[in-house]
Amino acid sequence: MGENDMAREQWKSEMGFLLAAVGSAIGLGNIWRFSYMAYEHGGGAFLIPYLTALLTAGVPLLILEYAIGHERIGSAPLAYAKISRRWEWLGWWPVCFVMFGIILYYSVVIAWCLDYFFYSFSLAWGADPNDFFFNRFLRISKSPADLGEIRTPILFALIFVWFITWWVVYRGVQHGIELANKILMPTLLLLTTILVCWSLTLDGAWTGIKAYVSPDFSKLSDPKVWIDAYSQIFFTLSLAFGIMIAYASYLPDRTNITRNALLTAFINCGYSLFAGVGVFAVLGFMATAEGKPLAEVVSKSIGLAFVAYPKALSLMPGGNLFGAVFFLCLVVAGLSSAVSIVEAFVSAVVDKFGTSRKPLVSLVSVLGFLGSVIFASRAGLLWLDIVDHFLTHYGLVIVGIIECVVIGWMFDLPMLRRHINRISSIRLGKYWDYLIKGFVPLALMIIILGDLYQDFSQPYGGYSWTALILIGRDWLLLNLALAVFLASRPWKTENHRQPGRGFTP
Ligand code: PHE
Repeated sequence: MGENDMAREQWKSEMGFLLAAVGSAIGLGNIWRFSYMAYEHGGGAFLIPYLTALLTAGVPLLILEYAIGHERIGSAPLAYAKISRRWEWLGWWPVCFVMFGIILYYSVVIAWCLDYFFYSFSLAWGADPNDFFFNRFLRISKSPADLGEIRTPILFALIFVWFITWWVVYRGVQHGIELANKILMPTLLLLTTILVCWSLTLDGAWTGIKAYVSPDFSKLSDPKVWIDAYSQIFFTLSLAFGIMIAYASYLPDRTNITRNALLTAFINCGYSLFAGVGVFAVLGFMATAEGKPLAEVVSKSIGLAFVAYPKALSLMPGGNLFGAVFFLCLVVAGLSSAVSIVEAFVSAVVDKFGTSRKPLVSLVSVLGFLGSVIFASRAGLLWLDIVDHFLTHYGLVIVGIIECVVIGWMFDLPMLRRHINRISSIRLGKYWDYLIKGFVPLALMIIILGDLYQDFSQPYGGYSWTALILIGRDWLLLNLALAVFLASRPWKTENHRQPGRGFTP
């Protein structure tokens, strides 16, 4: 008898589940991706496409994923296998490409943040943070083919990141993931609040905030703005990764699905808006201190965290402490997302093969660590950029589309809605069926067509086609092959024969 024949693990409280889901949703993207996007896409006016995307696609899909995990009582592969064995691979694919893809570089970025946390105390980047980051810290190579050596500062931080991730997942759902998020999420909120309040006291803060919020409604006529809003919503809510399905499968019978989905979505997006104030206050301060227009100092993602921010920190009184808190926020936000990825994969393997959890978590963490070492090489940033583009732009969107089609058209969607309505406080009407069957897959289709068009008109990021195909496309396809293989293996547990909480159509 495997561990699996015992009762399925469960969250201790609904609050614990909510915090874990929020922990997965709030990640690096909330801090460095959202604020720049809002600024570029019409400031305050961006709230219109963003909230529209949230309500018409984000929340409905989040409800769907919670419902599938909860009603079918399983991680993504098990949930799909209980719909039909034919679709089991669709559950494996995302959990494979997050485990053997996204987390491999996500953990490296958390490692950079950890290094920068320590560098902050002495403002180690000196007068030229740009040169420091690319040439001294990463020692970035010229092309993806030129891997160079492994960077030791990154490697050491990476060991720490994987150790924490391993430890949290190893301790299980209640004593690991739930407990960790109960500590990490309030800590993150506290640290962010300190940063935001502090940033408001800086000279020029309001210039930045004004640029961040002042609405430019003319941007709303640009389709790109809407496409970006939709793709940001999918990414930020950790949808189509198999994560939310696994987390919801640990919920008890009686649970409030719609309320939890709304709360997860609004806490996550509220956090993004809030963190954006801090980001732009600091940029406003830097523009004022350097006597430059704001547009010249604004940047996004890696450039924001590792170049623009360090520059501002060097100018700021107490900048070293501010920097330490900022990078700590990134580490905390990142770790709780990393944990959710490992859990989604572990839970899938335990469900199907009845493997005992602890040795599996250890094995998977060692493999994950070894796999992420390539991103700690001198070509790491280049590889990261390519793999990330393919996994999050194509993998995630394709899975989302098929998910809606399979569950919407080939499964009993009204049954699922009845299941949700039986236990939730906010009841869903038929409009939810239409969104899942029609609108959401259509929106995802438009996103992918837009990406395909752009990628075919010019190779992404100026990389060679060879690099894009061998590193990006093939990474996705190899994981698909792995998913199909895993799906074809016989079940070692009886889990897939057990009915859902509603009924088996
Ligand atoms: N939602 C997270 C963010 O915004 C990203 C994430 C990706 C989380 C993959 C889990 C898995 O950064």
